Amino acid sequence: MPLVSMRQLLDEAAKGGYGVGAFNVNDMEQIQAIMAAARETKSPVIVQASRGARAFAEDLYLFKLIQAAAELNPDIPIAMHQDHGNSFETCKSAIELGYTSVMMDGSLKADGKTPSTFEENVEVTRKVVDFAHERGVTVEGEIGVLGGVEDGHGAGGSGLDHITDPDQAVEFAERTGVDALAIAIGTSHGAYKFTKKPDGSVLKMDVLIAIHKRLPNTHLVMHGSSSVPKDLQDVVNKYGGKLKETWGVPVEEIQLGIRNGVRKINVDTDNRLAITGAIRKVFWETPEKFDPRDYLKPAREAMQKVVALRMTQFGQAGHAGDYAPISIAEIAKGYADGSLTTQPLVAAK
Ligand code: G3H
Ligand code: 13P
Ligand code: ZN
Repeated sequence: MPLVSMRQLLDEAAKGGYGVGAFNVNDMEQIQAIMAAARETKSPVIVQASRGARAFAEDLYLFKLIQAAAELNPDIPIAMHQDHGNSFETCKSAIELGYTSVMMDGSLKADGKTPSTFEENVEVTRKVVDFAHERGVTVEGEIGVLGGVEDGHGAGGSGLDHITDPDQAVEFAERTGVDALAIAIGTSHGAYKFTKKPDGSVLKMDVLIAIHKRLPNTHLVMHGSSSVPKDLQDVVNKYGGKLKETWGVPVEEIQLGIRNGVRKINVDTDNRLAITGAIRKVFWETPEKFDPRDYLKPAREAMQKVVALRMTQFGQAGHAGDYAPISIAEIAKGYADGSLTTQPLVAAK
């Protein structure tokens, strides 16, 4: 099936009351792992590439691999998404390449480090929305700032530094017309999110619920949502890794989020850990091996296992065949004639 609009995928998820994992990719094996998990669990799927991933893989290689995934999996709806676009130009280039969804992360300035002002965020996000919607492409915006730094992207500091203000979230959704809204509730990118199992003092599910109450029809996005499970940490450390003790976002908290408007859940770190653990194990146990297939195959399988589990836990499993894809041209018409509304329903305080 052709790549589908992420908006369609999220609208369907809202109808079905489930969440959709958005998994980061940098190479063929990661794409294959996600597609194998999607086939295994019959899941619609969001595949996403950061700026770093696009640079690492070279745009065209990565995009052609996604096209191959779509061709080889005609029964699986796939949305291809730009993760953390830092500028209008980054989003424009993804759209021109054929991505069906972009994130304009205007919570940070174009340097990907410095928190921007609210007005700067609204302005650049609105510009991306106008350009993208004319072409049938979905837009995710971000209000509030996540913690941590990944590959040079992020403000650093704690996830508690810039928690989303629900009133600002409403104004941002109204003024930008985004299809999906990423919010900051205390999570950070990477493995080091929390120093113990998070409670409400560090993982602000109450803020998420307050935002959902004000914006009941807006698709919410949780970034930094790897669970960083102990078993994956243990494999890495058992075979020579040096991860410090750490906690991620418990799956049950994500499921609470899904019951409160979360439709897209970003996961990268858990897959990185699974891949690294599997490769370390081969190197540790059989140091005489040097054929990359000997360690890339188990790495791919380890990632497939994590992705399939998350697909089941997020509820997207079993929903791949629920709907026929709407063409991107039809989606563009829907934005133009207002039938695909982008004005959020706002509930009174
Ligand atoms: O946004 C964070 C994702 O994990 C992507 O990370 O920028 O290192 O590719 P990256
Ligand atoms: P993790 O680092 O928790 O996997 O988050 C990934 C993410 O938010 C990508 O945008
Ligand atoms: Zn993110």
